[in-house]
Amino acid sequence: MTHSTTPFPDGFLWGASTAAHQIEGNNTNSDWWHKEHSGTSHIEEPSLDACDSYHRWDEDMDLLAGLGFTDYRFSIEWARIEPAPGHFSRAELAHYRRMVDGAIARGLRPMVTLHHFTVPQWFDERGGWTAEGAVALFARYVAATAPVIAEGVPYVCTINEPNMIAVMAGAAKAGDVGFPSAGLPTPDEETTWAVIEAHRAAVKEVRALNPQINVGWTVANQVYQALPGAEEVTAAYRHPREDVFLEAARDDDWVGVQSYTRTRIGADGPIPAAEDAERTLTQWEYYPAAVGHALRHTAGIVGDVPLVVTENGIATADDTRRVDYLTGALNEVARAIEDGLNIRGYLAWSALDNYEWGSYRPTFGLIAVDPETFARTAKPSAVWLGGLGRSRELPRGEG
Ligand code: BGC
Repeated sequence: MTHSTTPFPDGFLWGASTAAHQIEGNNTNSDWWHKEHSGTSHIEEPSLDACDSYHRWDEDMDLLAGLGFTDYRFSIEWARIEPAPGHFSRAELAHYRRMVDGAIARGLRPMVTLHHFTVPQWFDERGGWTAEGAVALFARYVAATAPVIAEGVPYVCTINEPNMIAVMAGAAKAGDVGFPSAGLPTPDEETTWAVIEAHRAAVKEVRALNPQINVGWTVANQVYQALPGAEEVTAAYRHPREDVFLEAARDDDWVGVQSYTRTRIGADGPIPAAEDAERTLTQWEYYPAAVGHALRHTAGIVGDVPLVVTENGIATADDTRRVDYLTGALNEVARAIEDGLNIRGYLAWSALDNYEWGSYRPTFGLIAVDPETFARTAKPSAVWLGGLGRSRELPRGEG
């Protein structure tokens, strides 16, 4: 038996997320563009034109607003804004300001991510996050984004998934360039502390621009689940991959929770999902309950800091599985709210089928994009989820 109710409080953010490099196309001055053309074997294909959202962001926003969403998370591209060290492009800053204004004009509250995995190639060449002066360079970039974020942007994310940045740095040291090809390599500790310092510096800059902005960062949550007897191993495994980044968010205005699946841990570390488990196009176990665990674990570490689900979704070619996944996930969010967690919003990953860090194959989008014409088509899941944005009435299971 199901009944209908409205668990989401007034002002609850209801949206979808994207990231510049994954949708804009031709991000030629970024480190990722260079990696894509470096011949690295597990980067199957380059991003090239992506969804051409650099030119078609207005179509994306028209669709999202028309579907019923009230919030849109997108990132701005450091590699475009600062094409050479210390040279800030007024034209690119104006471009991103047009996006902020365009969102507001359509009734979409913009959530702006300042850094989503890509850095300018020059920053990478000088040694990336752990090089001397890297934190100051990031802080200078953040200050320079004032024309984009100082007015009308209620939420700013400094750095997306710092834990994945540290994991990628760890993988790179082991010779694996880009998104890790398998498993969750050991994060590079020097990178961990560098991005934490960069975050702290960025928070200061954002608060100086406008103290009204809610500033925070978004952490990838892998929902580590201990098999009986493996509780200590699990805690030790999780701390450098997740908790250290959540602890660093304790003085922030909010923290973003990003979750897709779970990772079970036995005495010797992660164990694969059961043979017969349903898997998504990323090969992750289909596990809609993940977001509930992720929210509760995050709250346990950050205390009263408000939570926003900034990414949650599924890569599938079968859109009915997406609706099923999101229904399960949203019921988890609703139960967590009812249990008293301070959850301010839910933004699905992703607005569009996009470049999934090495391949276009895993389709996370609510909206399909034709790779040749770039025509957008809202999938039934987008119509359904956007509709919930209007009604806020979630079909509830018994739970
Ligand atoms: C990232 C996204 C990515 C998604 C699905 C997160 O790691 O923030 O950029 O596309 O998960 O893999």
